[in-house]
Amino acid sequence: MQRKSLAVVLAAGDATRMKSSLTKVLHPVGHRPIIAHVTAAAAAAGVDRIALVVGRDGDRVRDSAAASGIPVVAVEQTERKGTGHAVLMARQAIEAERFDDVIVLYGDTPLINPDSLHAAMAARAAGADMVVLGFEAEDPTGYGRMITDGDELLAIVEDREASDAERALKFCNGGIITMDGQSAVSLLEAIGNDNAKGEYYLTDIVAICRQRGGRVVALKAPEADLMGCNTRVELAEIEAEWQRRRRHEIMLSGVTMLDPSSVYLAHDTKIAPDVIIEPHVWFGPGVTVASGARIHAFSHIEGTEIGNNASIGPFARLRPGARLAEGAKVGNFCEVKKADIGAGAKVNHLTYIGDATIGAGANIGAGTITCNYDGVNKHRTIVGAGAFIGSNTSLVAPVEIGEGAYIGSGTVVTKNVEADALALARTPQRNLPDKAATLRARAEAVKQQRKSSS
Ligand code: UD1
Ligand code: MG
Repeated sequence: MQRKSLAVVLAAGDATRMKSSLTKVLHPVGHRPIIAHVTAAAAAAGVDRIALVVGRDGDRVRDSAAASGIPVVAVEQTERKGTGHAVLMARQAIEAERFDDVIVLYGDTPLINPDSLHAAMAARAAGADMVVLGFEAEDPTGYGRMITDGDELLAIVEDREASDAERALKFCNGGIITMDGQSAVSLLEAIGNDNAKGEYYLTDIVAICRQRGGRVVALKAPEADLMGCNTRVELAEIEAEWQRRRRHEIMLSGVTMLDPSSVYLAHDTKIAPDVIIEPHVWFGPGVTVASGARIHAFSHIEGTEIGNNASIGPFARLRPGARLAEGAKVGNFCEVKKADIGAGAKVNHLTYIGDATIGAGANIGAGTITCNYDGVNKHRTIVGAGAFIGSNTSLVAPVEIGEGAYIGSGTVVTKNVEADALALARTPQRNLPDKAATLRARAEAVKQQRKSSS
C-alpha cells in the first residue's frame, strides 16, 4: 500500500551567527537557496507534503521551498522555544491528513541525501515506531548523543545534560526524526522544558516513545550529509562539499575536467558527455553545454546554451541569452550577451556582441563592438551568414549586415550593408615620404636644447 508522508522542516532559527540581513536558509549553495536543497531531497525521497516552520521572511522561504514541486504550507514560530515547540507549530498540518510518516528535517542542512530519508521511511514501514538518523562525529561537542542498545535507540541526551560517560560517545543525533503521523502530536505534547536551556527539546521524544512501548531505531548517515549552516565559514564548507559532489557526478557522466577543484558549478548546470573543461571555469545558473564543446580556462558563463563542438575562451564571458550553435567559437576577452552566434561563426578576440544575431560562418574581427545601447534603449545588430567584419569595427545598432558582406577594418557602420557589398567608412590613407625622419630630427633637436640649458 502506498504510504503518505509529511516533512516538517524547521527553518525558524534567527541565525544571528550568519550576521546577515538575508534569512539563513535563503543563502545559496550552488546558486540555489539552502531550503530548496532540503525540500528537493524530500521530493526525491517521495515525501507528499511539507510543513515549513518559519521565522522572518516567511513568504520568501515558502516560495523557495515550493520549488521542489511538493505542496508547502508555512507556519510561523514567533517565539523560539526549542525544536520540540517548533515541530508542534505544524500541528494542524500533521492532523490535516492521515500521514503514515512525519519526518522532521532541519532547513539548514542542504546536503541531506534522499536515500537516507528513504531508508528512514523504509525502517518505519518495516515496523519501527520511530527512526532517528545519526552520524559518527569527529568532534561530538554540542550535539545530542545517541544512547543505543544494538540498533535500538534508548534516548538522546543533549550535550549540556550529558554525563561524562555520555559525552564520550561519538554517535550523535543528526536531527532527522521520522515518526508515525497518528501519534506524533500526542508525543510532541508530552515534551517538557525542564532542562538546562529551558527549551522544549524534540530529542526527548525518543524516551517518551519508548515509555509508551514504542520501538525506536537509529540509522547512520555520513557526517557530511548532516552538515548544518550556522556561520559563513560553514556556508563555505557546505558549498565546497556540494561542489565536490556535483563535479564528481558530472565527471562520472563523461565530462573531462582538467582541474576539477577550480570549476564552479550551479545546481542546474547541464554538461553533456565529451565536453572538456579547463581550469578556473565559473558556471552561473542556466547553462547547458552540448557534447564535444571545449571550455578553455578562466571563462565565466551564465544563462547560456553552448552547442556541439563549440569552443569558449580562454577568458570569455558569456552572459544570459547567449546561444552558440554547433562549432561556434568565442575566444579571448570576448563578451556575448543576448545573442545568437551561428554555426561555425567566429568571435575570436577582444569583442563585445550584445543583442545580436550572427549568421553561420561569419567572422567577427578582433575588437569588433556592437554599439547596442543609445543611453536609453537597446537595439539589435544582425550579421548575415558568411559576412566578414574587419577588425576594430563598430556596429551601431540597429543595423543589418547582409550575407557575405565585407566590412573594412576600423569602419563605424551606421547604415545597413547589403549582401556581398564592401563597406568602408574611414579617411583614405596618405603617405608623406621622409616626413617621419623630419619630425624625428626636429624632436631630437628640442631634446638637445633642453639638456644644454638645464
Ligand atoms: C539539535 C538537536 C541535537 C542535534 C543537533 C544536530 C535538539 C534539542 N537538539 O541541537 O540533538 O545533535 O540539532 O544539528 O533538537 N529551530 C526552530 N525553532 C526553535 C529552535 C530551533 O525552528 O525554536 C530550528 C533551527 O533553526 C535549526 C533546527 O531547528 O534549523 C535545530 O535547532 P538548533 O538550535 O540548531 O539545535 P541544536 O542545539 O544544534
Ligand atoms: Mg544546530
